[in-house]
Amino acid sequence: MNPQTSDKDRVYIFDTTLRDGEQSPGATMTLDEKLQIAEQLDDMGVDIIEAGFPIASNGDFDAVVAIAKRAKNSVIAGLARAITADIDRAGEAVRHAKRGRIHTFVSTSPIHLAHQMNKTQEEVLEIVTRTVTQARNLIDDVEWSAMDATRTSIDFLARCTEAAIKAGATTINLPDTVGYSTPEDYGDMFRQIIEMVPGSDKVIFSTHCHDDLGMSVANSLAGVKAGARQVECTINGLGERAGNAALEEIVMAIRTRHDAMPYFTEIEATHLSRVSKTVAAASNFPVQFNKAIVGKNAFAHESGIHQDGMLKNAQTYEIMTPESVGIKETTLVMGKHSGRHAFKDKLRDLGYELGDNQFQEAFQRFKDLADRKKHIYDDDIIALVDDEMGSGSDRITLKDMKVVSKTGGEHVCDMVLDVDGQDVSVSVSGTGSVDAIFNAIKEAVGDDPHLVIYGVDAVTGGTDAQANAHVRLEMNSRIVSGRAAEPDTLVASARAYLNAYNRLLMERGASAQGAMAG
Ligand code: KIV
Ligand code: ZN
Repeated sequence: MNPQTSDKDRVYIFDTTLRDGEQSPGATMTLDEKLQIAEQLDDMGVDIIEAGFPIASNGDFDAVVAIAKRAKNSVIAGLARAITADIDRAGEAVRHAKRGRIHTFVSTSPIHLAHQMNKTQEEVLEIVTRTVTQARNLIDDVEWSAMDATRTSIDFLARCTEAAIKAGATTINLPDTVGYSTPEDYGDMFRQIIEMVPGSDKVIFSTHCHDDLGMSVANSLAGVKAGARQVECTINGLGERAGNAALEEIVMAIRTRHDAMPYFTEIEATHLSRVSKTVAAASNFPVQFNKAIVGKNAFAHESGIHQDGMLKNAQTYEIMTPESVGIKETTLVMGKHSGRHAFKDKLRDLGYELGDNQFQEAFQRFKDLADRKKHIYDDDIIALVDDEMGSGSDRITLKDMKVVSKTGGEHVCDMVLDVDGQDVSVSVSGTGSVDAIFNAIKEAVGDDPHLVIYGVDAVTGGTDAQANAHVRLEMNSRIVSGRAAEPDTLVASARAYLNAYNRLLMERGASAQGAMAG
């Protein structure tokens, strides 16, 4: 903690990567991935982790329970609509945490009231009082959110906020649900509400901003300047549509510009790079190269003038160091003679604690990789382990594949898949190698999901680099992503497609999901 600051300047970080972030179409994560992310957020000092939306599906409920049971320091929050069953379910899930929170929300804007809820303002006020009271009867820590607060009249927002505080809410969140606000407007809203509402000094006000106009971080910080002391954000800015305010940007802006924003968070910023990579891999949303703080190019100085300045004094062009956010030079790690101990130490160094089975699998894959690739770097190990964690529970796996391609000729894929323990063999052609592979999988599983995105990039340099393949599929209005890392681009592509298809098969309740909001 900065010695010049006092508790009134502390900004609590509420991470919603596992809830709002996972709502992003295609970002569905497995339980193992969610547990891994939650553990890293907890270790990094995140104050509140919104672990999911327990009523949405049994999978969501189980994930919130599992995260709640393991969390060491973070408060674990579960989201609930203003519906009795939602609030009960959220309470049931978070009661396993050392410190749990129910986060309940209702829309307050005229457009939502008229077209989505078909309710009057008086009815909404009654709902706020009833649902916050219900939540408070289950747990002491209750957050209430006014969905679409930024398009709600100040007077009605003040009445709702007052009702929520009177009913026992301890945190009041005023979201910019549709990413419409500007920093001036967002700050003014907090200033007015804090001034108008009796009891506002007894609660913590929270920001929650979406990035539709690219202003989510600026808006969140304007909210803090106006008195909010909790910021809701996600790693890599993952989230509905254009995403949420990026946690790493909020934390580093407050830290780097302490002169302009005299606040502090308890986040250990050196963990940021690692958590960003884990979330990118689990959600299959790669981080854009020029993304602030965690992008590959965020600290790269290409132009001659910049390089010259950097060599003379890093501060000429660098306002924060790569080390301060945990970016390390990718190092040469090991080769085929490296043993189990060295591999385990390396995993620990990279932030992984694997169970026995997962460790054995990862070690075997490392050995196979080392037989095929001379130099193995940190990034190779990260890709390999993330791949292992993301595909552990796949029902359908690739057993064997042969692709024959000919310039101007036919491309044929012979493939054997293990489908729930049974071998299924097919031989299918396509307009290119990848087309033949994807056609073969579709034929073998008897389904035809729409291919939304297919991409490949290299994990490191060199022609023997591992290929990281990403596939996004859509079927029955569900969008999922898959990934795989392999030295062979075609095998990586096949496994990424299968990884996505396996996620389509994962149980997930669509009904409650449809009612979720940004
Ligand atoms: O954007 C939003 O309004 C939300 C609420 C559920 C808090 O995500
Ligand atoms: Zn949201």
